[in-house]
Order: sequence, then structure tokens, then C-alpha cells
Amino acid sequence: MNDKYETHEHDVIIIGAGGAGLRAAIECSASGLKTALICKSLLGKAHTVMAEGGIAAALANVDSQDGWQTHFQDTIFGGKYLNNWRMAELHAREAPERVRELERWGAVFDRTPEGKILQRAFGGHTYKRLAHVGDRTGLELIRTLQDKGIHQGIDVYMECTITRLLKDGDRVCGAFGYWRETGRFVVFKAKAVVLATGGLGRCYKITSNSWEGTGDGHALGFEAGAELLDMEFVQFHPTGMVWPPGVQGLLVTEAVRGEGGILRNNKGERFMEKYDPKRMELSTRDVVARAIYTEVKEGRGSPHGGCFLDISHRGAEYVKKKLPSMYHQFKELADVDITREPMEVGPTCHYAMGGLKVAAETGATRVPGLFAAGECTGGMNGANRLGGNSLSDLVVFGRRAGLGAAEYAKTALAPKVDVAEVESAAGEMTGFFGRAGAEDPYKLHLDLQNTMQRLVGIFREEKDLTAAIAKLEEFKQRAQNVGVIEGQRMFNPGWHLCRDLHNMLICAEAITRAALRRQESRGAHSRLDFPKYDDYWGEHNLLVTRDGGQIKVEACPVVKTAELQPLVDDKKAKEKK
Ligand code: FUM
Repeated sequence: MNDKYETHEHDVIIIGAGGAGLRAAIECSASGLKTALICKSLLGKAHTVMAEGGIAAALANVDSQDGWQTHFQDTIFGGKYLNNWRMAELHAREAPERVRELERWGAVFDRTPEGKILQRAFGGHTYKRLAHVGDRTGLELIRTLQDKGIHQGIDVYMECTITRLLKDGDRVCGAFGYWRETGRFVVFKAKAVVLATGGLGRCYKITSNSWEGTGDGHALGFEAGAELLDMEFVQFHPTGMVWPPGVQGLLVTEAVRGEGGILRNNKGERFMEKYDPKRMELSTRDVVARAIYTEVKEGRGSPHGGCFLDISHRGAEYVKKKLPSMYHQFKELADVDITREPMEVGPTCHYAMGGLKVAAETGATRVPGLFAAGECTGGMNGANRLGGNSLSDLVVFGRRAGLGAAEYAKTALAPKVDVAEVESAAGEMTGFFGRAGAEDPYKLHLDLQNTMQRLVGIFREEKDLTAAIAKLEEFKQRAQNVGVIEGQRMFNPGWHLCRDLHNMLICAEAITRAALRRQESRGAHSRLDFPKYDDYWGEHNLLVTRDGGQIKVEACPVVKTAELQPLVDDKKAKEKK
């Protein structure tokens, strides 16, 4: 790359350093490959820590009847039968070994009286299945993987944002980005790239995602030629904080309900009786989020537009032991003592079920050299993810994508980076400076978030989705003229947002166009104008690709495995009863 840009060369680079990225990096580096982990934020600061309540794995430590088959069935039922069956199978089969591996690597899980890993109840899981560390499970998982990865010799590049995947013909051969602190550009050459950038929650106004969740991997992969799958399914976690305004959307772990928390409306009614009398508060997230939304809309909400979640009946000692973070979060941020009074909670955009289409076994996208794992991929969770299945997904498929990328890199030719492509990527970033009458990126972001929240949220209908598409077309025009309002290249979040908007607009359009196309209600996608399941759509996923400059949405059959059909039929029969 001459001397113009700082350049690093590795066998494999992994973009994103949450659970999936770290686990992929550990696997690549264990194969003896020169491996780099690139993160937009500081190492350890990832949305993985927001999976607080536990990691789902059929260890059968608390409920001895549990097994991978039941975990598979629960996952498929939660995903409303749109999951890639092979992914759900691999996930259910391999999660227990990944949890035991975490323990061997130093994770300190809570214990049963006999000293086994303790497991708790969570929505949609038939048995107590979530291995946990109080309500800080994601944090412990990241800490463990970080320690393991660093000691194994992975190169870590922090506070570095990747803006483009570089290609050599059809094949991916590296990435271009900038250092957030200095604004200087950097080129990474690699034989294989793994995307593990997490979610896209920042497309919405109320979200548990922090600033990093701008759909980078979804967009980078898509622009490099990979397909997106199931984008219409966006998970609203039922319980985020609603008050005070500065912390709106912050996650209130499902573990509160797992430990016996009760939801009530402003009349004191335990309203889940109406929506899912069998599972109550431990119904799947889509059902609980819709229930809360409906209670609020019909005038039975709490003072700040949510409902009440009460765990105080479990007693102060129990609550502080099992939910220490929640206790401190409410005490410090809302001046609420959850051992004595209920929390106010409401739905918050938490997770994207949709993402890059990958091969179940290897995490390979259809672009040679490009792999992906974790939340930026689709298929595993179908129409709705069960709580706790994300941490297990990260380690199961992070490992598999790491192996897949390593295998590919071992026989791949050395990467050849095209100087013109690098110059074009640099030009895109410098182009945000000096634009006369530039559009303010913060204003555009707010407009995007409000539009997605209002028109493509928990309940959807054709007129809103059509209006959202018109808005998105307008936003794309405005984005052409978005520019830096003040400051230079040294740490300038306004500049960074100019580029992040590009990714969020791709994701928002894919979500909205897919949501318009799916004319039924299923899982996290609820259409007021098509309130029922539809048989055709129950057999099809939606694939988003690019046709020239246009986004194209097409239906493709759900990936099934004949041998698993009896398990699926058995679950369907049980749920009919
Ligand atoms: O509620 C939670 O602790 C979140 C878990 C998850 O998203 O898997």
C-alpha cells in the first residue's frame, strides 16, 4: 500500500470483538494463523454484556429431563418455525460443551448446592436452562474470552472503525477503516475476514444497544455481495427502563422474570393472564412485548408509559444476591429500591434476528473469503429469539466461523489489495468535510430513529410501512449531502456518524421492505392488517439482495432437515394442546 496508509497484514481479521468475534479469533489463532481482532470500541465493551440473565444450554443440571432435543424444539417454536433447522440443531447440540469450555477457561458460574453450574428459568425455555453469573453473565463471558484470547496472542486493534471490505475480484482480501482517535486511515490485508459486529438497534429511538450498534457488519457484508436474511424480524425486549428519560431503553434483564418477577398494569392486574395464561411472564419476548405495548395503548400503563415489574416479594437478600446489577441500576439511575417497590418497564429494541446468510457449519457467506457469526447473521433464530440463546449462539457459531475462516485461509492465496479501491474508500470519508450547506448527521439520525420507531416498530401495517419507505428514500437523498458540521478528523463523532448513517439506512431499508413483503404476523413481526399466520409464509424466509442500485426482496424456502421433522411435529402437537 506504498507508505501512504498504515497497513497491517494477517491471515484472518475479525471485525467486532463481542462474544462471537472473540470466540472466532480464539479458534483462528489456535489453528496457528496470524489473527487480528478489530473493534470499534474498547475491548470488552460489547452488546454481549447486555445478555445479562444467562447462556442457554441443555446441561440438565437443575432439570434432569432437559436435552438438546428439547432445546432445539423450544428454539424452533420460539422462532415460529422459520429458523434454519441445521443451525438450531448445531446450537442446541453444542451449547453445553461451549459452556463447559467457558468454565475451563475461567468463567465463574453460579452453583447448585451440589456444586454444578446453576441454571435458571427464562421465557420460552421448557426447563431451567440458563447458566448464569447473577445478572452479569454476558460480562463474565466477555471477560473469560478476552483473557483467553489475549493470552493466546491475538492482535487487537481497538477504537478502529471499518468502513469498507476490500475485494480482489469476487474474493474479500481485507478491510479499510479509520482510527477513531486520530482520524487516520488504516488498511488491513487478510486472506479471510469474519464479520461479528453485532446488531443494528441504533436504527430505533428506544434501544438497549449503545452507540456501536449501527448495523456495520450487516451493511459491510451486504455491500460486498452477501445476502441478508429475515430482516423483518427485530426483537423488542419487553423490559427496558422507561424513566428517567436519559436511561430510556436500558435493559432490565429477563432474569427478573426468571426469578419470579410479576408484571402488572396500573389497575394492579397481572395482565399476562390474558395474553399467555400458560407461560405468563415467561412467555416468549414477542408475546410479552406486545402485551405491554397493548396495555399502555389501551390506557392501563404506568405513569411514564410502561408497566410495573415487581420482584420485591422475593425479599431483599434474594434480590440483591440474584440481581445485583438490577438493584444498583434502579437505585442509582432511577432512585427506585427494587427490593421494596416495582420497576417501571417497557419494550426496547434489543436484537436483530435478521442478518447475513451464512452456511451453518462454517459461517461462510456466499462471498469467497467472507465469514460471519453472531447477531450480524440470520437463520439461527427465525422469527424470534429466545432469551439466553444469543450467548450460546455467539460461542457455538463464533467457534464455527473461526474454524471456517481458518480452513479457508490455510489454502488461500496472499491478499492483493487494489490501490484504487483504497483511495475510493478514503475519498468517501474525506468527502464528508467541507460540504457547503451540509445536512446535520445528528438530525438525520434522529429522523431515522423516530421513523423506524413509529412506523416499523412492534405493530406494523401497510400504510405505515409504505410511508416509512418514502421517508427512507428521502433520508437516502439527504444522506448524500450529510457532512461534518464542526471539527476535524481527530476524534470527531459527528464525522463517524456520517458514515454510520450509511449502514443504518441500508439496514432500515432492508427491515422495512421485508416487513412490507411479509403479509402475515409471526414472531416479532406483527401486522395489524394481516394479524394471522399464513401457511405460505410459514414455509418461507425473506432474502434481501441488491439488484443494480435497488434492494430486492425475495422469498426462499425454510432450510429443513428431514431427520428433525419428528421433533418439530412433536413440538407442534404439544403446543396445540
Ligand atoms: O434479558 C436478558 O438478560 C437478555 C438476554 C438475552 O438477550 O439473551
